[in-house]
Amino acid sequence: MISRNSTRCDIMLFGALGDLALRKLFPAFYQLERAGLLAGGSRILAIARRDLDTTAVRKQLLDKLEQYVKPEEFDRSLAETFVQRIEYQALDFHDQEGFGVLNDWRDEHNNELIVYMASPPAMYGVIARNLRSSSCCTENTRVVVEKPIGHDLESSRVINDELGAVYKESQLFRIDHYLGKETVQNLIALRFANNLFASQWDQNHISHVEISVAESVGIEGRWGYFDKAGQIRDMVQNHLLQLLCLIAMDPPSDLSADSIRDEKVKVLKTLRTITPDMMESYVVRGQYTAGTSTGKPVPGYLEEEGANKRSETETFVALKVEIDNWRWSGVPFYIRTGKRLPEKLSQIIIHFKPAPHYIFDPDQKHLANNKLIIRLQPDEGMSLKILTKDQGLHKGMRLRQGPLELTFSETFEAERIPDAYERLLWEIMKGNQYLFVRRDEVEYAWRWVDRIIQNWNDGGDPPKRYAAGTWGPVASIAMITRDGRSWYEDA
Ligand code: BG6
Repeated sequence: MISRNSTRCDIMLFGALGDLALRKLFPAFYQLERAGLLAGGSRILAIARRDLDTTAVRKQLLDKLEQYVKPEEFDRSLAETFVQRIEYQALDFHDQEGFGVLNDWRDEHNNELIVYMASPPAMYGVIARNLRSSSCCTENTRVVVEKPIGHDLESSRVINDELGAVYKESQLFRIDHYLGKETVQNLIALRFANNLFASQWDQNHISHVEISVAESVGIEGRWGYFDKAGQIRDMVQNHLLQLLCLIAMDPPSDLSADSIRDEKVKVLKTLRTITPDMMESYVVRGQYTAGTSTGKPVPGYLEEEGANKRSETETFVALKVEIDNWRWSGVPFYIRTGKRLPEKLSQIIIHFKPAPHYIFDPDQKHLANNKLIIRLQPDEGMSLKILTKDQGLHKGMRLRQGPLELTFSETFEAERIPDAYERLLWEIMKGNQYLFVRRDEVEYAWRWVDRIIQNWNDGGDPPKRYAAGTWGPVASIAMITRDGRSWYEDA
């Protein structure tokens, strides 16, 4: 049972009328209200440039809540109560003097101040400096920032320096929303609460690992942002490397934020650098062309609204990642992620090595390794593929592969699975940093990813095309087939 104690806090939300706030943050706050986790007296100051008043913003937020909260979870009268916590302040983030009004809003009874910067990262430094001069922050203020923290190592250092000039690392909560997903947290429980797995988690027992994060959507009107980022910056540098770290890290000595983050950093430091001569066999980048998505025709990336027809930005990446340490030597991690793939699906597959000596039907040898499938979305759960004897008199000792299945929504029916942002906001209010990314994690991840981007810029092949609605370029299949393996869907 989770603790229901939350302290009264004041939350300043910069960028409160932006997409992230409207789609994710306010619905998450509403869910916390619904769960009784927002302490009485806690308040939100919604801050954005537009010249509106509190009444108009509350009305707009009510409409957005109705739009983004599932109908069965939307209760109008509760939503009306919730929006009473919200006040609106129009503010130009560059206007240092304007920040003075924020002080007037602070409630002396609310000890905790949370500043959430749901604004473009270029504004983080400006907001931090102006908040400092308005002196409404204390050294206990928690500051929340979203990705992307820069577009490469150098620019991420600039942002981190700007934040670091005003706040201590212990005040900073860098969000990677994948860390708030229920099943991602479950990786920690799975690995470190079950000795069954803990004792098998290394190169002696695991042959390889697959991480797939597939999306069926395209770039959804975000061409301007996405084209400068591409899938490697948008998804690999953060979400996929975080998943990889949680799978690969050594056991932390406890659940404190720094114990966990120290172990993740050790993994990031040991990722083998991908040099130009490795590009052909370790990296595939792709870009979708017209095709179909959920049965409907969809345009290619270069035909999306606002597209630069000559763009070489990747919408798909597959990588073979090697970790140069004792535990993972010789165990490749195949990771792939893309837009306009056949379905929305995030899963991790741990392929165990076969038993040392095989005594069954030689024709069935391909079945011989166990697999642990961890589904992050949809249908959060886990499935362990094990071998049993096929039933029946005439079957002899024929083997059959079947799942030991755990689907969270079925097994733990009563518990609603919270959205990642609900969990993250709740942890911020409790002041717990273990689900947030430390500065060195961000920077080591950029250092590794930058090298791949550098190789592309130095004259790599252009992205390989794949039709929308397929699993990416055939080169991604070839990459894993060369090692005598296949992606799980293709098996
Ligand atoms: C975001 C990316 O960080 O994650 C988006 O910027 C992507 O491009 C999204 O669509 C995917 O998140 P989720 O939770 O829907 O898998």
